[in-house]
Amino acid sequence: MNDSRQSAAILVTRKLPPAVEERLARGYRCDFNSDDRLYSADELVSRAANADAILCCHTEHFNADVISRLPDNVRAIANFSVGVDHCDLDAARERGIIVTNTPDVLSDATAEITMLCMLGAARRAGEGYAMVRGDRWRDWSPTFMLGCQVTGKRFGVVGMGRVGQVAARRARGFDMEIHYHNRSRLAPEAEAGAIYHDTLDSLLAVSDVLSLHCPNNPDSRGLLNAERIEKLPEGVIVVNTARGAVVDDEALVAALRSGRVRAAGLDVFNGEPDAIHAAYRELDNVFVVPHLGSATVETRDAMGFRALDNLDAIFAGREPGDRVA
Ligand code: DGY
Repeated sequence: MNDSRQSAAILVTRKLPPAVEERLARGYRCDFNSDDRLYSADELVSRAANADAILCCHTEHFNADVISRLPDNVRAIANFSVGVDHCDLDAARERGIIVTNTPDVLSDATAEITMLCMLGAARRAGEGYAMVRGDRWRDWSPTFMLGCQVTGKRFGVVGMGRVGQVAARRARGFDMEIHYHNRSRLAPEAEAGAIYHDTLDSLLAVSDVLSLHCPNNPDSRGLLNAERIEKLPEGVIVVNTARGAVVDDEALVAALRSGRVRAAGLDVFNGEPDAIHAAYRELDNVFVVPHLGSATVETRDAMGFRALDNLDAIFAGREPGDRVA
């Protein structure tokens, strides 16, 4: 291969799937993290001392301070994630550091988790699971643990990007009517019969299930707050597989306690992993999984290969396919 890859040094901040590390090792000089220890900001900066690029995950926070302290040799930050809210893109641009992400390849896996969260919340799966495993299941009766059926209900998508569109397709499998709000209306082929709402409020009013698929940015932070929850139908189910920051936890917890929101299915949290709102561990009407959206063997390999395709392009002097800064 006639490019500068073999000589390029990559700081790999987390342990990656074996196939991805093998391909990395074939093409680059790598500083792997075989213990999968979470690096502090100082360690990220010091380990970058000889790195031409950093391959990182959303668990590493490249805020303006960290980016300002990176040595000049760092040309790129290749994310092993579609979300880039852990990177200050303006700060990277200012330093001339290229930032890439891994779109597309995790849409199916994340849409699967969206369905799991929706059904888990609607059918009280967390509660039932805990009852069986905790040896507290003693009875069956016609009124035992009744949930709510999603078939034929309205599935409201906030952010009809790649993941939102696949989630909508999966929800159609339950004969759900798809509604969405997005910055712009999709082309009819992509819309596939989904009903567009040009305001978020209009979407909220018709969502029996509200599923969040928007990125975390200043416009979406705390988007699901008390005022907006009031605009949802009584007994709505809330699903979040996007980012915890999109939800105002106090507002959602209050609505879950009062029953205004029937149940929530959550894959992502403010303060994850260990400082999430305590109520999410306690409330029966919350179904939770630990940020598993993209956690399949197929998808994690694909994410790694996509990050590597971006690095390969950069070190071959080409524009990477997934440049975000
Ligand atoms: C993503 O790719 O953004 C997932 O949340 C995992 O980081």
